Amino acid sequence: MQEWGTRQAVVLADANVAALYPHFFDALSDHFTCRTITIPGSESSKTIEQAVQVWQQLQAWQMERNDTLIMFGGGMVCDLGGFVAATYKRGIHGVYCPTTLLSMIDAAYGGKTAVNLHHVKNCIGVVRQPDHVMPANTTFLQTLPMAELKSGFGEMIKYALIASPLLLKQINDLEVLTPESVSPLWIQECVRIKENVVRKDPNDHHERHVLNFGHTIGHAIEGYYAASGRGVPHGVAVAAGLLYESLLSEKLTGLPHNEFLMIENLIQRHFKVKPFSKKKWNVLLPYLIQDKKNKDGRINFTLLKGIGSPVTDVLVQDYPF
Ligand SMILES: NC(=O)c1ccc[n+]([C@@H]2O[C@H](COP(=O)([O-])OP(=O)(O)OC[C@H]3O[C@@H](n4cnc5c(N)ncnc54)[C@H](O)[C@@H]3O)[C@@H](O)[C@H]2O)c1
Repeated sequence: MQEWGTRQAVVLADANVAALYPHFFDALSDHFTCRTITIPGSESSKTIEQAVQVWQQLQAWQMERNDTLIMFGGGMVCDLGGFVAATYKRGIHGVYCPTTLLSMIDAAYGGKTAVNLHHVKNCIGVVRQPDHVMPANTTFLQTLPMAELKSGFGEMIKYALIASPLLLKQINDLEVLTPESVSPLWIQECVRIKENVVRKDPNDHHERHVLNFGHTIGHAIEGYYAASGRGVPHGVAVAAGLLYESLLSEKLTGLPHNEFLMIENLIQRHFKVKPFSKKKWNVLLPYLIQDKKNKDGRINFTLLKGIGSPVTDVLVQDYPF
């Protein structure tokens, strides 16, 4: 941060994380004017109204373009704070300190920032790469609620399915998910895959679509639950999306049945996903048709033709079964 001329650093902290780790950034005050903004630790903070409050605070503290906003929390803080940092004065520096499994493997990388609009996920946002991501510190996982650890694990399964049969084998051998069972090597492998994909297509024109496997239905599930006043962790919704989109993959892109069964077994061992049905499709349809990736009124899926072989831009009009 010194090398890019920062004089003032502001930590944008998830309130739950700030309460658990109140002194984590104390040493920063030796070098910079350092202040903290805490925001409620919930997806409902990922709004334009919350962004306005943070912009106003940065303005009150006279943050300049060389100054740095540090995101201290999970994907919610990364997305909101990344958006604020990208837009305040057309961009100040952004550093991510991810504290959830999901943000360590995914949300802190790739530069997608966003807030939600009327329960439509990530509707408003920009792509801007962070200046720095602090390496995953797995001691944060010790305090993470189990549901959130599972959420990150759901996203990890996605990375294994689209690009890493070896990672898939290792996580498939895992009997019980605990904070200690998550290998730092698994985290590094997911980051490697994501950075590789993002390097080829930072602005999400084509190659990056492979990362959407499980997410078309996953985001619709999140939108549905948010609208009905109940939250669902992102990666848990993605895990259901992975299973349903694997079913679609068997039907539409030739995923072999034995590979589908292996995916189903892995997901059902860790997540209790209800069967897919036309009724479920119809419930999710209002959210599916809002998806940013859609083309010509058709829903755009990334599916698999096999484990490790994603197919992007599969367009679907109606319930496909
Ligand atoms: N930008 C991207 O590329 C990208 C990728 C994936 C997901 N996301 C977004 O990330 C968000 C989900 O992020 P998430 O799963 O990290 O959840 P989150 O940031 O909402 O955090 C989940 C919960 O865990 C708590 N928490 C965080 N770290 C903790 C810790 N170490 N100990 C105890 N509690 C802790 C938080 O207070 C919160 O209650 C979604 O909004 C999703 O859309 C973005």
